[in-house]
Amino acid sequence: MYNPFSLSGKKIIITGASSGIGRQCAIDCSKMGATVILVARNEKRLKETQKEMQQSERHSYYSIDLGQPDRIKELVETIVVTHGKLDGFIHAAGIEKTLPVKLLSIDDYETLFRVNTLSAFEFIRCFSNKKFFNDNGHIVLLSSITSIIGRGGVAAYAASKGAMVSAVRSMALELARKGICINCVSPGTILTPMMQDFLSTLSEEDYKKRIDGFPLGLGEVTDVSQLCLFLLSNASRWITGQNIVIDGGYTSR
Ligand SMILES: NC(=O)c1ccc[n+]([C@@H]2O[C@H](COP(=O)([O-])OP(=O)(O)OC[C@H]3O[C@@H](n4cnc5c(N)ncnc54)[C@H](O)[C@@H]3O)[C@@H](O)[C@H]2O)c1
Repeated sequence: MYNPFSLSGKKIIITGASSGIGRQCAIDCSKMGATVILVARNEKRLKETQKEMQQSERHSYYSIDLGQPDRIKELVETIVVTHGKLDGFIHAAGIEKTLPVKLLSIDDYETLFRVNTLSAFEFIRCFSNKKFFNDNGHIVLLSSITSIIGRGGVAAYAASKGAMVSAVRSMALELARKGICINCVSPGTILTPMMQDFLSTLSEEDYKKRIDGFPLGLGEVTDVSQLCLFLLSNASRWITGQNIVIDGGYTSR
């Protein structure tokens, strides 16, 4: 059957696969025929993700703290020796910190950049080596609408997400020689555990303001996972270096 969106036969690493958007991406990739290598910190929750996937025994997981990007090369080597060369990568691991600028320390900036940004860049450095990543592969980085709009309290987070968007443009030009596509996906508010924790800290007035900003309401994890799946598939082979906003109309105002 004609299906340009199929991921059959593709090997894909997904970081942040123990929760939220990353977990849904893993489940959906398995339904589209991919073999998925799940990466996150919490082994118990990675196992839970694996159980929810189609043909769960086909997939595997590795637990690692991405706050230490110098451990990534060894991880990629292990994965490729065990599973073979890779075709796709989704970086959904991420942390958020809401603090006014006057309280943000260098440590806060560094921690956010290590997990959100530098760990992704280190994976991509590995994938630029043809030993690890197949030509015509696809890379998707979870950024955020804070990469393009201002919002009080999230300067460090927004900076870590904006850095991805600018890096991806240059990376796309370099990786195009191998037919590799690399893009950012920038969601608005998606109801995940990370976001629910944050929303519960808002006053009633701020909560209402936040919700009212989204003409199509808040997003669901599948809204984002389905966009990521498209960007991993051959159907998106002419899209690279972009920041694709998915926000229910928030930034259309
Ligand atoms: N949920 C939203 O509304 C929203 C909006 C815009 C962007 N995003 C981005 O999407 C991505 C996924 O968000 P989510 O809401 O699903 O988050 P989540 O908190 O549900 O999941 C985050 C994942 O990152 C992993 N992770 C965090 N720190 C790690 C570390 N040090 N080492 C290894 N893994 C680590 C966690 O284990 C978990 O699997 C994040 O990058 C987030 O910034 C989310």
